[in-house]
Amino acid sequence: MTPSDRLILALDHEDPKEAIHLVDRLSGRIKTFKVGSVLFTHAGPSLVREIQKRGGAVFLDLKFHDIPNTVAGAALQAARLGVQMLTLHTLGGREMMHKTAESVREAVLRERIPAPLLLGVTVLTSFDQAMLQETLSSPSSLEEMVVHLARLAHEEGMDGAVASPRELPLLRKDLPRSFRLVTPGIRLSSGNHQDQRRVADPRQAIAQGADYIVVGRPILESKNPIETVEAILREMESPG
Ligand code: C5P
Repeated sequence: MTPSDRLILALDHEDPKEAIHLVDRLSGRIKTFKVGSVLFTHAGPSLVREIQKRGGAVFLDLKFHDIPNTVAGAALQAARLGVQMLTLHTLGGREMMHKTAESVREAVLRERIPAPLLLGVTVLTSFDQAMLQETLSSPSSLEEMVVHLARLAHEEGMDGAVASPRELPLLRKDLPRSFRLVTPGIRLSSGNHQDQRRVADPRQAIAQGADYIVVGRPILESKNPIETVEAILREMESPG
């Protein structure tokens, strides 16, 4: 994969027109655009189609978490929309992941639609150890929980997981190389960190085993988004 195959732009806009404007400006350099729940709730599947019409691939980041039948049904609709990847919460459990992977796989064969990557979200990065224990009443450490949930995801047919830079070494040690890791929390070595606490620069994230990196504000808030994208692509290429 080339650096531009691995770079995903998070379209964290409220206004779909702004999002499409940025897709138009950057689509020569960026191939995949992440649509999250805010933009999707506003603009829906038609925005996904608009991005695809422009040649962009879509990472649909809706983090599904419900009973197995419902998540499988939602993932199936996302697959029919032709998204390249989508997320669901691994805390939905084994059966939910299993049924989702099975339903999507069957539909891919039956309907000859492209297979989306199914990505598990483990523990949200907004959680710390105390919140995890309070919420789940579990004695496991945050790191143990992340590895445990990623293993479950792998066993039940997920293609990969969303992993913060700090989790990359742990997960790369524990899971086969074919399990895709998608990493947000990326900051250019020269830039500011906004509210992300556990950050890595693009080169570090790739070196630690990220298959894809997700970047939002460093590009969205840049005075020159094209230049910032070029700088990120260069950092991804440099061996360090
Ligand atoms: O603006 P920034 O580069 O921090 O954006 C990162 C993107 O990745 C945002 O869309 C954010 O919601 C998402 N994300 C994250 N941490 C996670 C999962 C997703 O920052 N654990």
